[in-house]
Amino acid sequence: MAGTPGTPPADEPSEASEASEASEASEPRKAREARKARKARKARKAREAREVDEAREAVVEAALGRLDLDAKARLLSGQDMWSLPALPEIGLRSLVMSDGPIGVRGVRWTADDPSVALPSPTALAATWDPGLARRAGVLLAQEARRKGVHVLLAPTVNLHRSPLGGRHFEAYSEDPYLTGLIGAGYVAGVQSGGVGTTVKHYVANDAETDRFTVNNLVSERALRELYLAPFEIIVENARPWGIMTAYNTVNGTTMTEHHHLVNEVLRGEWGFDGYNVSDWTAARSTKDAIEGGLDVAMPGPRTVYGAPLAQAVRGGDVEESAVDDAVRNVLRLAARVGALEGVAPAVTELPETVDGGALAREIARRSFVLVRNERGTLPLKPGTVALIGAAAREARVLGGGSATVFPPRIVSPLDGLTAALPDGAVGYAVGADPDTELAVADQGFELRAVCRDADGNVVGTGSAPSGLIQWMGSDLPDGVTHDNLHTVELTGTFTPRGTGTHTFGVKGVGAFRLTVDGTTYYDDVQRPADDDGPFEALLRAPVPRAEAELTAGETVEVSLTHVVAHPENAPMKVVGFTLAHREPQRDPDELIAEAVEAARRADTAVVVVATTDRVESEGFDRKDLVLPGRQDDLVRAVAAANPDTVVVVNSGSPVEMPWREEVAAVLLTWFPGQEGGAALADVLTGAHEPGGRLPTTWGSLADAPVTQVTPADGELHYSEGVFIGYRAWEKAGRTPSYPFGHGLGYTDWAYESVDVDGTADGTTATVRVRNTGERPGREVVQVYLAPVEPDAGRPARRLAGFADVTAAPGETAEAVVTLPRRAFEVWDEETGAWTIVKGSYEIQVGRSIADRRITATINV
Ligand code: BGC
Repeated sequence: MAGTPGTPPADEPSEASEASEASEASEPRKAREARKARKARKARKAREAREVDEAREAVVEAALGRLDLDAKARLLSGQDMWSLPALPEIGLRSLVMSDGPIGVRGVRWTADDPSVALPSPTALAATWDPGLARRAGVLLAQEARRKGVHVLLAPTVNLHRSPLGGRHFEAYSEDPYLTGLIGAGYVAGVQSGGVGTTVKHYVANDAETDRFTVNNLVSERALRELYLAPFEIIVENARPWGIMTAYNTVNGTTMTEHHHLVNEVLRGEWGFDGYNVSDWTAARSTKDAIEGGLDVAMPGPRTVYGAPLAQAVRGGDVEESAVDDAVRNVLRLAARVGALEGVAPAVTELPETVDGGALAREIARRSFVLVRNERGTLPLKPGTVALIGAAAREARVLGGGSATVFPPRIVSPLDGLTAALPDGAVGYAVGADPDTELAVADQGFELRAVCRDADGNVVGTGSAPSGLIQWMGSDLPDGVTHDNLHTVELTGTFTPRGTGTHTFGVKGVGAFRLTVDGTTYYDDVQRPADDDGPFEALLRAPVPRAEAELTAGETVEVSLTHVVAHPENAPMKVVGFTLAHREPQRDPDELIAEAVEAARRADTAVVVVATTDRVESEGFDRKDLVLPGRQDDLVRAVAAANPDTVVVVNSGSPVEMPWREEVAAVLLTWFPGQEGGAALADVLTGAHEPGGRLPTTWGSLADAPVTQVTPADGELHYSEGVFIGYRAWEKAGRTPSYPFGHGLGYTDWAYESVDVDGTADGTTATVRVRNTGERPGREVVQVYLAPVEPDAGRPARRLAGFADVTAAPGETAEAVVTLPRRAFEVWDEETGAWTIVKGSYEIQVGRSIADRRITATINV
């Protein structure tokens, strides 16, 4: 049966990897002809694109010529948290940016302004489907347009170097090729909707510890072969309209000033023609940044650009031509997204409207990785289910930090399974609650924000759908300005769900007064941590400040008042604080006993285990890979009570599963997005098979070969060179819990043949697989390239291509995978160039890096 296209990141299918169009391409000659035709189409498209580019450049040049130095310098500096100033004199509208990557938050940070939440980037990569990533991008462009956003601050294509990286849920994979192809699909999709992308964080922002200052020491070879590679693939295949330079330093130069990596490599060698924006507050110096190729300093209005840049030109420190280059890049972006008069936007025909909820659900089930399924436990047989786990009811659908969006709805596993199974089939028990921290006040709270001036007069009120207040720049309630605002009071009621000791807490910096049910529990000042940057306090944990004995169903008054103050050095004004809350805590042993009882009575036990916001988020790294709280004990106890125990892991990146051999099935669901529970029901009931394959090795921290994320004396040495992820596990000779590429479906596959044709410049592997199971299925055919002669300096093998196919029971399917030239190359540090390593290579085809079924040999 026909293979579904594996990799169409841009308009044309990539030459890097794709499945065949049915059996047509079964002969190498036909594959060659198809490749030729694609080349011709590509050349025609490139010609047309050049003509459009020339027309755009003429308008950009004319607009640039009409701007004086002050206007040019102003354009390069944020006017607030998310936008650049409009310049009406040249018909330029204000360019608006927003995070990414799983949704489009827009300029407001509130549940009042919801956005579709797709599964986490790790989940998207687990689909191994750049075509699906492209469809995600199309949806995000639609969301961006709905919210008046021109540029999405995504995708994140840093690598999973150490499993401790706190922000791994927001990146794709440990493998640069998979990362590059998924990223290229995503970028092509977003931009096909007329919205720009900002590929981030360029480069080597692979961990969070001391992220503003860390000096990552990385060899040129590791940079080229690993960390720069996804950016290069995306620039080549999808032509992104933007890039974001990272907070960190690489080999002694901070990335917002990195002339070599930005001007020479990104722009010079790869031909990137988009704009380069700093990560938020990462621009530190006027002269070095502009000379290092940084176009835009965000956020504003206080940045190193704007007036300081104009002054630096007038003082003779900076050439005006450097400013012109940056302005050209911004105007080109504006022209592409349709914000500059006099030129047609890059996209004049928008893609068809996408149903965001349906797509979120499809991506989720395609991303779930079934790593273990003993005795065919899944799909579930008819019968009763004991659903266990705090995250089964309060689903953790997305990771924290700047990737946060507020979805219009969340389908929890409990919602999803209850809807999918017959009445009365699903019972629920908490079992263990990993959330030892306080969460944003939400369930049971009815709040509003009252703003007062210094005399205590009310100047405005704002809605507060939860206890989170985050007003940035001019995003203030009607009638409120930063000048008249003195205090914000979050006030309203709370109706408890349970009786007992309720804990209330406060997140934020400054003076707060907290009153619950008539008692003032806290009236003091919370101070920032010593090493906090301007926005870091927003990423910290709330501090418990009140314990109140409350009764279920009895409503009480709650009030948290904050005296607004803005630090001297803040680039902009932000009003940000949180009222947090925690339910009464039950005895953990009792909770486990209750769950065991429920599991004993049911036919199947499904335990949902999860990480929390304090484990995986932006702004810090992980300390270990252990599931928080008593969740490991819970799983063991439930598995002992019911042999048909299925564990669903709700985490953005690897966790240790010491009980994995004691349970019947393990399904990894990442942060599954707003429809996660519905997708889970689809997969558990067998309406759909789980489609994911691991984009990153899962193993214990003790065995993981590369773990270091904490700099010593400000430096972090990437001393492992080109050996991260599976490359490092193989070199160390260690066996992880689950290898890169692993994932089971609900059918079986036989790998029947592989034929190889070509040279290093265009090797094609044609792979025939047969569905030997009993239901239709989708298989991700993975191609690894291994030098036959062992070479200690090179990985034993590397992912060199993949494609997905579908087939009915008994049918065969064929995948044609084209291997990129880069798979045969290494970066030669002496010559400073790529070089082909000649010799014999095995092309190993299989279901994961550890499950290689058939091979062929090629000499280059
Ligand atoms: C993050 C970026 C993000 C930016 C704006 C930074 O802290 O590192 O990824 O785009 O904030 O929210």
